[in-house]
This record gives sequence, structure tokens and C-alpha cells, in this order.
Amino acid sequence: MNKDKGIYRSRLGKQTDDFAIKFMSSISDDDWILMEDIENTEAHDIMLQEQGIIELNDLRKILKNLEEIKLKFKSGKISISDSFEDIHEFIEHTITKKVGIEIGGKIHTGRSRNDQVATDIRMKVRTELLEVFKVILNLIDILVNLANRNINTVMVMYTHTQQAQIGNFAHYLISHIDHLHRDIERIISCYKRVNLSPLGSSAIGGSSFNLDRTRTAELLGFDGIVENSIDSISARDFALEAVSVLALIMSNVSRIAEDMILWSTNEFGFIEIADEYASTSSVMPQKKNPCSLELIRARTGRVYGNLLELLTIIKGLPTGYNRDLQETKPPLKSSFEIVKDTLEILCRIFNTIKINKEMMSNTASESYAMALDLADELVRDGLSFRESHKLVGEVVRTLVKTNKRITEINLPFLEKISNKILNKKISITDKKIKDVLDPNYSLSKRSTIGSANPIFVKRMIKERLKKSSILKKEFANLENRINEAKKLLSKTIGSILS
Ligand code: ARG
Repeated sequence: MNKDKGIYRSRLGKQTDDFAIKFMSSISDDDWILMEDIENTEAHDIMLQEQGIIELNDLRKILKNLEEIKLKFKSGKISISDSFEDIHEFIEHTITKKVGIEIGGKIHTGRSRNDQVATDIRMKVRTELLEVFKVILNLIDILVNLANRNINTVMVMYTHTQQAQIGNFAHYLISHIDHLHRDIERIISCYKRVNLSPLGSSAIGGSSFNLDRTRTAELLGFDGIVENSIDSISARDFALEAVSVLALIMSNVSRIAEDMILWSTNEFGFIEIADEYASTSSVMPQKKNPCSLELIRARTGRVYGNLLELLTIIKGLPTGYNRDLQETKPPLKSSFEIVKDTLEILCRIFNTIKINKEMMSNTASESYAMALDLADELVRDGLSFRESHKLVGEVVRTLVKTNKRITEINLPFLEKISNKILNKKISITDKKIKDVLDPNYSLSKRSTIGSANPIFVKRMIKERLKKSSILKKEFANLENRINEAKKLLSKTIGSILS
């Protein structure tokens, strides 16, 4: 192509075979890290000059051209031929073509593509983690808002997809807010291990030049360095960890998606997603399909697949850089894309969702799910729990058999069954029975911390708001640190070029 043998190939007698170069090249995945790669090179070369390894005038020419590539990339005016092995070769080749090998040939002094690409990926992963962090915060805000409007929205809660206990919709939402808060905590913890600089480790054993590794780390916004040069260039556990965190996010939100799919059926009718997020049928005119939610369920599988792909690439690799590591970029990129899109669509769905409070409440009022509340009440009236469980179980069995509702239970009915089953008198009053069979009353009787009693629900919402505001500060800190480093780098470049 436009190269002789290619800038690295003097050891080899021949040009790379055209098919082989396409097979080996990572160019098509590398625009994901292009900006990071240029900043990486800028920081490295600034440090080289500060350490007296390259001349100021040479640095100026290099930086000017790197900045130009950045601008071209941002305005989409760059075309990168796939005859290059990767973005690193492309950039060095481009600069060298412009300023000649005597100057351009200095940009890679003391560096290897091994520490270079590890640095690029860490920079990219940390930015992506922060983007995910941000959308989760947004989703939590939307869910907290919805919870606030539904503190008294009574509904049935399910275990085994069977009616279990009376609860309320806000209580349900908080359970997912808590999952999402934990997802954020995992992001923060992972971020700490990601945001360390491998740069300056060279190919594997470190460099004979007097490189200042902490200076490049500073210019690139890292919190420190990966000290051991072998670890620096070999390790991808940070990437595995990031995708594990993403897989857990998908696992969590896929369950929300499933609930919404189920609850939007005619059979449940608890919620309705806005038309904008639904699909229809080409043949059945009545259909409103929750396709966006179904795709969240399915794409969870793709992120799991990416995780397995990464685990398998890394497993058993000899210590050091191996070209296999190149293949870690696509599953990383794809996982972040899926997770960000998923969280964004959930924000939109929950911003516009219709909660059918009446349907939820009607289902609750007719539900045998009040059986446990009745059983508890009978314990307070003197039965042992097992006696009470036995009695109420028989009561429900009789109701179901005779096609009766739970609200039709009265004292004579209970007494009759108690006589038969327990051979015992019971002392509950008719009024107490009526009370207990009212879902709101049942909820007001829940007295354990974290239960569905609206008093606890309100308290939980308040605490979740506090937690979110702490996490928002943490987010701002991390984002600020990156922005400050970006400013430092561009200020440094600016003063060198002026
Ligand atoms: N394209 C490579 C990657 O993405 C860059 C590092 C290549 N290093 C090497 N020694 N061949 O991993």
C-alpha cells in the first residue's frame, strides 16, 4: 500500500501478505481508543523532553501533528487504511511521513506498543465506567421519583411467580434502587484498580531511558502507576473485572425488565409502557409488544458472552504481551455499548411508564396473599404459628374449592374450620378479621425494618436519596479529576506550542 515494508518490518524480508495484514490488524476496533492513544503519545513525548531525552523543537513538531490528527478524527476527516497493523503504527507512520524519520522516529523512544495499548485501554475503560456510573445515577433518580409517588400504591408481591404477600410498588422499586446502588459501588471499586498507569514499562522489563512514570501518569489523570513492568503489560484482569461489573448490571436490570414485561400483560395489567417504547404486530392488530424490555433480557446474554470470551482469551496465556490480548477490545467495547444503551432505554421507559394503581390494588384486595397476615393475627390471639398456619391453610383450601374470595372469611367460618382441624376455640373477633383482610391495614402492621409498611418505605426513600447524593459527589470527584488532567495536558501542550 502506501508503505514500503511498514515502519516496524526491517527484520523481515517481505511485505506482509495483504490477507494476513487484514487478519492481524486491529485497525477496525482501534478508533475506540484513538483519542486515548494520541493523548498517551503526547504525554509520553512531553515527558521525554522534560527528561532531556528529546529536543524541544522536535517535540513541538510532533505535538503539532498529533493535535492535527486529533482534530481530523473529531471532524470525521480521517481515513485509516486497514493496511496498518493497528492505530499505533498508523499514528507513528503518519507523523513520520510529515516530519521525517529523524524527528518522527523519536516519538516511540522508551515505549513499546505493549505498555502503550494497556494504557489506552485503561484510559478508555475508566471513561466508559464513568459514563455507566452517570446513567445509573440518572436511572436511580427516576426510580426514586416514581417510588415517591407510589408509597401507598398497594400491590401483591410474588415468590415463585405466585401471589405471596401484600406490598407496595415503592417498596418494590427501592429493592431495585438498592441493586443499582451496589452496581455503582462495584464500579467505584473497579475504577480504582483500572485507573493506574502501565506507561513506561516498555515491552516487559522496563526501559533503559530515565522515564518519569509518575509524570506521564499525572498528565493522563491516573491515580498512580502499575508498578511491576511485567504486571503492567500482561494484566487484563482490570478489563475482566469491568465486564464482570457490567454483566452484574445486566443481570440486575434484566430482572426489572422481566417484571415489567410480565406486569404489562393483560393478565396482570399493573403497568403500561409508553407507546414510544413498544412495538406492534404485522398481523395481529391488537398487539402492543414490550420489545424494548425483551431486548434488554436478550442482550444480557450478549454481555455474558463477552465476559466468557474475555475469560477464555486470558486463561492460560503465557505471562507477557501476546497478540491474543488484542482481541480483548471488541468484547469490552460491545459490553459498554450494550450496558449504556440498556440503562438509557430504562430511563426513558420509567420516565413515561403508566402505573395502574387501581388494578394493583384490586388484585391485592382479592388476593389470598393476606393469608399470612391473618395467620399472624391468630398467633397474637393465642395460637402457635404452626397451628395457625394449618388452620389458615385449610381455610384457603376450602375457599378455593368453593370458589370464594378471601374477604368472605368471617368468624363462624373460621371457628368451624378451627374446630375441625385444631379441635380448638379461637378468640379473634369478627372486626379483627375484617381489619386484617384489608391490604392497607396489613401493611400498617408490618413492623420489621425494611418491610413494606409505608412508614419504613418513606424512611428508605429518604436514605436512598442521601446515598445517591453521596455517590453523586463521588462521581463528580472522579470526573473532575479526569477533566483536570485533560486541562493540564492541553495547557502543557499549549505552552509548548506557543
Ligand atoms: N494492536 C495491538 C493490540 O491491540 C497493539 C499491541 C501490539 N503489540 C505487539 N507487540 N505486537 O493489542
